[in-house]
Amino acid sequence: MNSAIENLLTRRSIRKYTDEKVRKEDLDTILEAGKYAPSGSGKQPVIMLVVQDEETLELLRRLNCTSVGNEYTRDNFYGAKTVIVVLADRSSRTYLYDGALTMGNLMNAAAAIGVGSCWIHRARETFETDEGKALLKKLGIEGDYEGIGNCILGYPAETPVPKPRKENFVYYSK
Ligand SMILES: Cc1cc2nc3c(=O)[nH]c(=O)nc-3n(C[C@H](O)[C@H](O)[C@H](O)COP(=O)(O)O)c2cc1C
Repeated sequence: MNSAIENLLTRRSIRKYTDEKVRKEDLDTILEAGKYAPSGSGKQPVIMLVVQDEETLELLRRLNCTSVGNEYTRDNFYGAKTVIVVLADRSSRTYLYDGALTMGNLMNAAAAIGVGSCWIHRARETFETDEGKALLKKLGIEGDYEGIGNCILGYPAETPVPKPRKENFVYYSK
């Protein structure tokens, strides 16, 4: 089978990681793949925020719970020590689709080079909080950005099997 297709079929969400920090060359490769995701009219409304410092990781972990009204009693990032937050500028009509495609590129690129990943939701709610907004401001990120997803990364410590695909996934007009 073509290796790119095989990668698409075998990528799985990883929720258990080794302690090894994601190597810079791996992170750079994943980010490069994110940059080349398609975007509506080629407007590139997406930005990627790489978070690896403990203080900011802790903030994101906490807001991932509290921004949706939950108590901060669990690590929704499954111990991952690298997160790429994908945000997209709402002023572009297709920002949400563009952001989701970027997330897809990141996760598929990660899998292709042996890095585990998982989309963790609630990035939108996170960056609607005052603390989330303050983080972007501190980093000099200006604009009407919506959080699309948190792509957590690490080296896999599990090998999940996919669910069988549902019946009637595909229809043909003729
Ligand atoms: C939009 C979106 C949001 C997701 N949010 C979460 C999440 O918050 N936490 C989590 O553990 N997994 C999350 N996932 C991962 C899905 O649960 C996972 O993709 C799905 O179960 C299929 O498994 P697979 O990725 O291994 O094929 C999310 C996936 C998508 C596409």
